[in-house]
Amino acid sequence: MAINPDRLVKMVDRMPTFPKSAHRIIELTNDVNCAPRDLVGVIEHDPILTLKVLKLVNSSYFGLASEITSVKHAVVYLGINTIKNVALGVATMGALPKENEVGFDMAQFWWHSLLTGALARLIARKRNGSEQELSNSFVGGLLHDIGKVVLVLFFPEEYKQCLEKSSAENCAPYKTEQEVLSMDHAGIGAVVAEKWQLPEVLVDCIRNHHELSQGEDSSLLEKSLFVGNQLSKLAAQTEEQEEVLLPPLPNHLNAWLGQTLQEELDSHNELPDEIEKAKMFIELSG
Ligand SMILES: [Fe+2]
Ligand SMILES: [Fe+2]
Repeated sequence: MAINPDRLVKMVDRMPTFPKSAHRIIELTNDVNCAPRDLVGVIEHDPILTLKVLKLVNSSYFGLASEITSVKHAVVYLGINTIKNVALGVATMGALPKENEVGFDMAQFWWHSLLTGALARLIARKRNGSEQELSNSFVGGLLHDIGKVVLVLFFPEEYKQCLEKSSAENCAPYKTEQEVLSMDHAGIGAVVAEKWQLPEVLVDCIRNHHELSQGEDSSLLEKSLFVGNQLSKLAAQTEEQEEVLLPPLPNHLNAWLGQTLQEELDSHNELPDEIEKAKMFIELSG
């Protein structure tokens, strides 16, 4: 049942291309001199993106008193970072299919991805990450499980087996994938990110989000994403009252964090807001 690497490359080629506007936003994000008007320009260049961003900005979540009718005003009212994240989320989600054959819950997938992005960003911010590291943490979180979408779309039978086996044996899905498919969604996600020509740091953090390749010498981005992914599962558990078995963190990450996952989660007061925002995203981005 192992997936042949050549077959994987062929399948990844059939993945939708990464939206040009999202690509430009990431590029701008990595440029410290990026001016708000450049971002406005990129969004306005894409009419569908503009419409969706304005729809979200005017949603009850942001609770703005008057209606915002231009991207420029959206940036003035909500700040460049919020608009950057909104635009990236909308563009990425819009590019990928909403339905699939294996009964994989896409809404849940995006909820987990958005929340992981938000949490990874908060974790990096608390540890004095640079603006660039914060942005990459959000994008890394948004895209970290993208390999699962490849499995859902192009290897539905194999993936279904993996999901069943991992829940029957109570084993982490990525470990079951390694066992059954000889590769996992983290490695597959890195292949997709490479094909999308994302910056190397993003490719690496996607590849290493379950197993940090550099141990304690891993970058702030990789550590924040790793912990953000775990916290996102923990947050879902609190929301749905469903118990999730989280593997213990490697010792060096425990030391880096300086507290338990639950304590770290509780320390982020912005979390309820981020959860609401993620829900609103899913509802409105369809
Ligand atoms: Fe994952
Ligand atoms: Fe994940």
